[in-house]
Amino acid sequence: MTPSSRPVSRRGLLTGGALAAGGTLVGAAAVAATRGDASAPASTPAPGRVPVAALGEAIEPFHGERQAGVATEPQAHAAFVAFTLRPDTDRAALGRLLRLLSDDAARLTQGRPALADTEPELGLLPARLTVTFGFGPGLYAAAGLDERRPPSVVDLPPFSIDRLRPAWSGGDLLVQICADDPITVAHTQRVLIKDSRPFATVRWVQQGFRRAAGAEPGRTQRNLFGQLDGTANPKPGTPLETAVWVPAGPDWLRHGSTLVVRRISMNLETWDLLGRTDRELAIGRRLGTGAPLTGDAEHDEPDFAALGPDGLTVIPDFSHLTRAHVTDDRFRILRRPYNYDGVPTADGTADSGLIFASYQADIATQFLPIQRRLAERDLLNEWVTPIGSAVFAVPPGCPEGGWVGQQLLD
Ligand code: HEM
Repeated sequence: MTPSSRPVSRRGLLTGGALAAGGTLVGAAAVAATRGDASAPASTPAPGRVPVAALGEAIEPFHGERQAGVATEPQAHAAFVAFTLRPDTDRAALGRLLRLLSDDAARLTQGRPALADTEPELGLLPARLTVTFGFGPGLYAAAGLDERRPPSVVDLPPFSIDRLRPAWSGGDLLVQICADDPITVAHTQRVLIKDSRPFATVRWVQQGFRRAAGAEPGRTQRNLFGQLDGTANPKPGTPLETAVWVPAGPDWLRHGSTLVVRRISMNLETWDLLGRTDRELAIGRRLGTGAPLTGDAEHDEPDFAALGPDGLTVIPDFSHLTRAHVTDDRFRILRRPYNYDGVPTADGTADSGLIFASYQADIATQFLPIQRRLAERDLLNEWVTPIGSAVFAVPPGCPEGGWVGQQLLD
């Protein structure tokens, strides 16, 4: 291996140890060339700038009190990557890892390649990229900081409907990568995984999608059952936000949140056998408009007491809507789900479902009561099965020059 082809250590780069290494210069020159940058080294041909659509250039802030990727209008593509920390990753090593990953995220989200990016051209189109970090229970244990773990960030209790697989469950550290361009997501995932190697192994990756960016602006997305999914979510900027963010507490909690990721398989084969009326009764809403069965428009308030000619409630008592409904705004959750669609079996049986991601200030008082009611009796259980489960604290964001997790680990 020649010195210039030797992989450059990003750790070295961050501490200034390898700034002159060949990889960095190659990366910088290549990027400058692609951007048509006049400051590019003279030996680099500058082919001129290729026009880029607004969608590709769109930027979400990385630095701030709160992490991006929670209240952010959901992007079209996502990868959830969960890591298991290596046994020797202690508090100091965790600090190095998070400094490194925060630096990658700070650059890539702003349309700049990561340090020593091996494919720098792929770092130029952020397409609203966000990278959101979550800390699993094992991270606090590894850092010797169990007393700082938000009490509700522990494995969920088992539910009778669960068929959890270890391959989709748990995790010490999570990165949720979202963007309106799937190549941006793939590249960011690759960079973050490579940089984590000395500290952690990949536990699981779940990739998902929603409607393409701009396909139906302002419209609630549809899941693979064809339902409008997200209607009753708290809207960013409303007082309901207090349900999502921790308003007070020590530095490592305030402006943070918690995240539950459930992989829920959806049985499209048996759902196909159901008539339209039964499908609408199961959820309590119309498929076309998303309106509650007692209303005309998507955002009409459902009337759970309204009776039909048969004397039964129009919205069935065991519909998903009735069972999931929360009347006290303080106990609502922010659902930010992505669809997944795996490879069908040889006979065409689908492998589809939801990467159900739920943000709330507190798992115990907000998520768990809803999940308990659903597990107990929800018509939808006939067609959906949780096959993965993981919980994370979402630490606050970081200022420029800082890194995510600094308030906890420094
Ligand atoms: C594959 C599984 C699931 C599917 C297909 C699904 C689908 C839906 C749909 C279509 C709605 C109505 C529209 C809306 O407000 O978004 C809804 C509402 C809701 N779902 Fe689910 N859901 C699933 C799992 C869950 C889980 C696991 C939870 C929480 C533990 C949950 C909590 C809620 C809540 C809180 C609402 C709003 C209820 C209200 O109107 O107040 N869902 N879901």
